Amino acid sequence: ECKSNMEIVDLNISKDGDKDESFEEKQVNHDSELKNKILNKNETETLPDNNKSSRETKTKEIKVEVKKSLLNHPTQHVEVKRDPKVQVARLKLPILGEEQRIMELVNENEFLIVAGETGSGKTTQIPQFLYEAGYTQHKMIAVTEPRRVATVAMAARVGYELGLTSKEVSYLMRFEGNVTKETKIKFMTDGVLLKEIQSDFLLSKYSVVIIDEAHERSVYTDILLGLLSRIVPLRRKRGNPLRLIIMSATLRIEDFTENTRLFKEPPPVIKIDSRQFPVTVHFNKHTYSDYLKEAYKKTVKIHTRLPEGGVLIFVTGQQEVKYLVRKLRTSFPYRKDVDYSKLITKKRPVSEADAALDSEPDDIESDDDEVEKEMKRAKKARRKAKLIAKSLPKINLDDYDMPDDDGQADLVDADDDSEGHLSDSDAEEDGLSAVIKSCRQPLWVLPLYSMLSSSKQSRVFAAPPPGARLCVVSTDVAETSLTIPAIKYVVDTGKKKMRVYDHVTGASAWRVVWTSQASAEQRAGRAGRVGAGHAYRLYSSAVFQHECVPHHPPDLCRRPVDDLVLTMRCMGIDKVVNFPFPTAPDRLQLKLAEKRLETLGILEKIEKVNSNKRRIQDDGEILKVTPLGKAVSAFPLLPRYGKMLALSHQFGLLPYTIALVSALTVQEVMSGKPDSWLATGNTLLLGDPGVLLRVVGAAEYAYVKGEEELFCAKYGLREKAIKEIRKLRKQLTSEINLSIAGVDVTVDPEMKPPDDNQARLLRQLVLSGLGDQVGRKIGLDEVKEGEDKRKFKYAYHCGELDEPVHLHGMSILRKTIPEWVVYQELYETGEDNKKMIMRNVTAIEPEWLPVYVPQMCNLGEPLSDPEPRYDEKSGRVKCHFKGTFGKAGWELPTVEID
Ligand code: CDP
Ligand code: MG
Repeated sequence: ECKSNMEIVDLNISKDGDKDESFEEKQVNHDSELKNKILNKNETETLPDNNKSSRETKTKEIKVEVKKSLLNHPTQHVEVKRDPKVQVARLKLPILGEEQRIMELVNENEFLIVAGETGSGKTTQIPQFLYEAGYTQHKMIAVTEPRRVATVAMAARVGYELGLTSKEVSYLMRFEGNVTKETKIKFMTDGVLLKEIQSDFLLSKYSVVIIDEAHERSVYTDILLGLLSRIVPLRRKRGNPLRLIIMSATLRIEDFTENTRLFKEPPPVIKIDSRQFPVTVHFNKHTYSDYLKEAYKKTVKIHTRLPEGGVLIFVTGQQEVKYLVRKLRTSFPYRKDVDYSKLITKKRPVSEADAALDSEPDDIESDDDEVEKEMKRAKKARRKAKLIAKSLPKINLDDYDMPDDDGQADLVDADDDSEGHLSDSDAEEDGLSAVIKSCRQPLWVLPLYSMLSSSKQSRVFAAPPPGARLCVVSTDVAETSLTIPAIKYVVDTGKKKMRVYDHVTGASAWRVVWTSQASAEQRAGRAGRVGAGHAYRLYSSAVFQHECVPHHPPDLCRRPVDDLVLTMRCMGIDKVVNFPFPTAPDRLQLKLAEKRLETLGILEKIEKVNSNKRRIQDDGEILKVTPLGKAVSAFPLLPRYGKMLALSHQFGLLPYTIALVSALTVQEVMSGKPDSWLATGNTLLLGDPGVLLRVVGAAEYAYVKGEEELFCAKYGLREKAIKEIRKLRKQLTSEINLSIAGVDVTVDPEMKPPDDNQARLLRQLVLSGLGDQVGRKIGLDEVKEGEDKRKFKYAYHCGELDEPVHLHGMSILRKTIPEWVVYQELYETGEDNKKMIMRNVTAIEPEWLPVYVPQMCNLGEPLSDPEPRYDEKSGRVKCHFKGTFGKAGWELPTVEID
């Protein structure tokens, strides 16, 4: 089965060879052209051949050659001397029993999928198998991880197990790494390998590429899989085979195995069964919004009532981790100078019913007896605690080894408003305080999140000090990337942080959302690694069934496509439409995005020089990124807004534009028509975005004075929207400062309204980004005989649309009805009385169009009267043109341009 797979891949390559005989000989040394050829051929060509008989005959012809090239696997084994302790631990891993089968499949195949429960040993062991089999004798093994935290931790672990140094088993990620010339196994983030492909398309340094955690479906991992599905056959053609191993948790592997875009025939799959003990899942009866408080309470109960065993708590981000760590450490302090091993109080073994921690607040509500019992118990405990407290030395916070800030911006667990609910509430209120005081067993609380320094990360793998119970507070990195030993109890808030994109602007924000059902199962599974365990979901089973989706769609399909197209073009992937995505975004959407980007001057057709040294346009199939496009791609927004920002940087208007884009991202800021003070002066022309800009400035001013609520009420603004805009402004500002060299802007809370000159420039910037969304007022002489002229009062022609488009009822431009406008968004109103409406409209001057949207203008030859002139200031020749705009051919005024 596996062999026929290889033959068919080979067959396809040879088909290309038939089509273009020069392919192999002439271009074989030209990586980039080769790459284009492979990635940009039409989809129909890459589909498997349906003509069976021809396939069979060709298959036979190639067979011998294929076998020869593929048998070319290392035969010289590498001796490894492992620490006996390591060897004992390894032998417990289920994957060890599969070593031979795995290596046979690797030797005989180019593609292999390894699926196995988290903790079965995929990440730590498979690189070692390959190393021992000799795969690093001439080239390196690459292992990609979607998370930084796993990159460092796994390199260290594999190095340790192999008895090698970090010089040989190294890691590389953005801003950090320890790769040397002697590196044999290289762990890296997926983004880093993508960068390497740009300079070395065939990845010639590697003998094997392992894509780890493929089920995470990060954008980079998905793109890597698409690229590698084409690179691997190319490497074989060179007689220098590259192996690809896809490793994944046992989640949705059919996305890879049954994917004809990636593989002509399903690659072999090896499933690693892991020893998994039963895990009892307990749902809360009620779902409380303060999940951190719930997590704290649950952990207290586990620690004070249930037998030995580590606790793993899942929260959403770094701030929450730190908060909970601090709170738990304060409740159950660990002191270096106390010998706890003598203090251990034996907890009675518990039945399943006890393990459910039945006296939850949810149950107390319905069970008065329980309340009374609980109260009595608490009272008794409190008395006891007082006595114990007297005997204990005073708590010294320095002993707890508080987690400190690493001083790094947290790129992954990006911060949001979550600090809002991170206030230290008193445990007393829940009657827990006494229980806490009476418990003398310390909790060994450790944080885990992706930006934690590597030395601190590694502490979770070590055993806690004698007498203390291990408790790890983690983001979702502990879900599948890292396996912490000896966890018996999982506390799952059911939440995670996810990047959510605004569909209009592409601005993204981190939102706390419900995890998927699949994630909840993964998290629960962490409790069953060493023995039977318990998972406490801090939400009801109804939430699990109705709010949690089975799986979250892959990142790549949640991203706006314009952004994706530009990102991939910047990586040198020419025909995004034909790219073999593991899960493909909508093809038509990709095409439209390419077109939009071309109109905005972000992509352009490749020009070739013909024999007469004249520049001609290519067949128009391939678009390249313009210098403007390169600048635009650095901004974390849809390219059209990125363009506004890139240009505004040149004009020194970045803070205004950031505020503007943030405001345009938030829906329904105002509940009524703008107040009269907003509808004056230059705001009238800057239009609805101008109103928003002034609203933001004024609201911030009110906020600084502590009068935000009042201000919003007075002017009919939605307070939540104003807060959202503030957050976005802050986030965008810091992301831009971080990602673009030489940019250092600040959020000015008391942003003054722009002066007339600035307002004019801002209108031009808005046009530069929305240049494909121009409207022109419908003249009354254009209205057909018999039509009601009043209907056309606020109506515009927009692009190729036949029907008239109306100004939004709340648009400030209804006051002036300017001749030419650009709009942010177009939509159709409800069923009856259908009408096209444009939203967030700005007035523009038609003579700006040839400057800011030349792609849409048809200017023809320069006029001879007035004559062209040489402009000394700019050193350019200025000519007059009289042209038209767009397909509809709207007449433009005479303009003078370079
Ligand atoms: O990749 P997969 O989830 O299949 O498993 P792994 O990450 O290779 O982990 C295999 C085992 O090694 C687990 O039981 C981990 O707890 C253990 N391990 C460890 O003890 N110390 C580390 N630094 C890393 C892993
Ligand atoms: Mg792993």
